[in-house]
Amino acid sequence: MTFFRWDQRFALGITRIDQQHQKLVELTNRIYESMKSGKGNQAIAPILTELSQYTQTHFATEEELFLRYGYPGYLDHKQEHDLLVQQVKRMQIQLQQGSSGMSIKLANFLKAWLIDHIMKTDREYVPYLKEKGVR
Ligand code: FEO
Repeated sequence: MTFFRWDQRFALGITRIDQQHQKLVELTNRIYESMKSGKGNQAIAPILTELSQYTQTHFATEEELFLRYGYPGYLDHKQEHDLLVQQVKRMQIQLQQGSSGMSIKLANFLKAWLIDHIMKTDREYVPYLKEKGVR
């Protein structure tokens, strides 16, 4: 069974954002699968690095749209992004230090964070950006 299945409830109707969110879901699943198949921290670390980098790419995409269109929720939204970037960096350090049981905690944390952030915080900007013509 897929750990984190993308479904239409998560779709915001802005193509590039939905594609990026799907990629983040896929990376979260890869972390989970690595854990499930008993791979060690060394195997999980590169996936977490990819996720860390892709998360920052995705956040930059959203923040660029916010700035371009003067989204009033920019600063609060960015604060959530910045916090996650810091949390993922801490997880990378923990992995490097050989913390056991990291990956399942990590996969569960990422899944919960993404669902909450997409369904609440991201969803808030959709009417504003769509009104500006973003699709
Ligand atoms: Fe889709 Fe605000 O991250």
